[in-house]
Amino acid sequence: MSTLSFLQTRRSVKAADMPHGRPDAATLQQILAAGLRVPDHGKLAPWRIVVIEGEARAAFGRDVLRPAFEKNQRADAPESTLALEAGRFERAGVVLAVLSTPTVPHKIPVWEQHLSAGAVCQNIVIAAQSEGYATQWLTEWTAFDPDVKAALGCNSQDDQIAGFIYVGGKLTNTDDRPRPDYDAVVSHWSAG
Ligand SMILES: Cc1cc2nc3c(=O)[nH]c(=O)nc-3n(C[C@H](O)[C@H](O)[C@H](O)COP(=O)(O)O)c2cc1C
Repeated sequence: MSTLSFLQTRRSVKAADMPHGRPDAATLQQILAAGLRVPDHGKLAPWRIVVIEGEARAAFGRDVLRPAFEKNQRADAPESTLALEAGRFERAGVVLAVLSTPTVPHKIPVWEQHLSAGAVCQNIVIAAQSEGYATQWLTEWTAFDPDVKAALGCNSQDDQIAGFIYVGGKLTNTDDRPRPDYDAVVSHWSAG
């Protein structure tokens, strides 16, 4: 399949629907290396990736997600909800936290540095899906919670979590979702 055909047909798979499994260590390394080959104004590499896989998923849920949810999201959450939140990362075989870590102050605008982190996320999605793995880019409450951010290494107030890329076993989603109307989005500028 050509790259163009792949991009015109690839689909994400919901984290809840991911089959068990994950890329092996060598494949994951290749996916991440491909993910890092993004446009990066100023060559600042303003991003970091934290890999959460295997037993670390449950440990992160127990030590970080659950207490953060109870403290910052819903103090009166029942045990069933807390258990659900603690298991959030276990929906996939591996969760890749992509941090946007801009250099500030710098002549390269922070906005452009964040955009480069978004490109890392999308490159990882494309790389993993091109290898056949079920993949989804999520933020949910977890990307914005101060305790989750701190636990992953967001050290300055400009640091953000650009996304959690969930990667499971191999599964291709063949159902397309509604796409925006091309003509509503694309226009050709012409001199007035
Ligand atoms: C920055 C970002 C954050 C997202 N966060 C969520 C989320 O929290 N919950 C959700 O259901 N979908 C979220 N999505 C959408 C999912 O990635 C969804 O799977 C995607 O829109 C499916 O489209 P695709 O098949 O074209 O990849 C997010 C997308 C982006 C770009």
